[in-house]
Amino acid sequence: MEPLVLGIETSCDETGVGLVRGTTLLADAVASSVEEHARFGGVVPEVASRAHLEAMVPTLRRACEDAGVTLADVDAVAVTAGPGLAGALLVGVGAAKALAWALDVPLYGVNHLDAHVAVCALDGGPLPTPCGALLVSGGHTSLLHVVDVASDVRLLGETVDDAAGEAFDKTARLLGLPYPGGPAISAAAADGDPRAIAFPRGLTSARDLERHRFDFSFSGLKTAVARWVRACEASGRPVPVADVAASFQEAVCDVLTRKAVDACRAHGLETLLLGGGVSANGRLRELLAERCAEAGVALRVPRLRLCTDNGAMVAALGAQVVARGLPPSGPGLGGDSSLPVETVLVAA
Ligand code: KG4
Ligand code: ZN
Repeated sequence: MEPLVLGIETSCDETGVGLVRGTTLLADAVASSVEEHARFGGVVPEVASRAHLEAMVPTLRRACEDAGVTLADVDAVAVTAGPGLAGALLVGVGAAKALAWALDVPLYGVNHLDAHVAVCALDGGPLPTPCGALLVSGGHTSLLHVVDVASDVRLLGETVDDAAGEAFDKTARLLGLPYPGGPAISAAAADGDPRAIAFPRGLTSARDLERHRFDFSFSGLKTAVARWVRACEASGRPVPVADVAASFQEAVCDVLTRKAVDACRAHGLETLLLGGGVSANGRLRELLAERCAEAGVALRVPRLRLCTDNGAMVAALGAQVVARGLPPSGPGLGGDSSLPVETVLVAA
């Protein structure tokens, strides 16, 4: 039987504990502190760290109960070592170290971003090699060439300013919608016309494509929405929130999907993985499926529940790392708030 891997995630506002064997998901327990941050319009790091501390043991217990295992059954512990909020990461890394030491099993500090991609293995089995990946989270937006998800991930392009999720969150605030903005915009957009307003598509002009073919920019879009809303208010008209939300969402999804498919074509990648919180967006999933089908690219998308932060994705990546026989992280493992996506596994 394949090893039982426990995954711990605490990089932002979700305390996640997952249990995975190979590519089989056994448990995915998540406790979120999102409601504690909502009134501030964004995550408050100290509040998140304290919430992780309080949620860690109950979430761990729940994961074991759900999977019908005990901690003594665990063969390896994987934990998000970055990127993320420094204090929040420390809670997870501290808990993982204590567990690994007490259970006498190896400890693997892994990259949160690569875990968002590796989670695709839990739906549809082992990932083909190589493949492309579009990573769209609250803090990152990147196009990746995944030679091997456990050991060789290469950055093809990334955002030069705001991340896609950040653009959703900032635009939601502008429209008076609640935090987190992604789900709120997507709900508002359902009643809107995506063609109502022609918002800009960042870094898609012929000149930009020369230097930034696989890069993204969303800050111009955010400014364009702000200007449009202000002009509307100045003229005394009510802001058509649904149309603005739908047109904004369409602009983001259009650029993301176009560049992702282009990257697959340019690098001969036959499969594209989608990962990160924004991959929960229905329009993104729909448009990406359409454009991948047209281009003959197979698309792997995680089930909705596994799109936003969770421990199962960390366990899924940990299981891949264990399967390759890679060396565990040392006892000096810490959190690295700006861990680069190419560092899948932290050695120290
Ligand atoms: O990956 P994630 O859960 O946390 C980070 O690692 O950052 O991503 C969170 C981001 C937030 O910006 C949130 O607004 C966005 O994912 N998000 C969405 C949707 N659900 C979450 N964006 C668009 N549409 C959604 N349905
Ligand atoms: Zn994330």
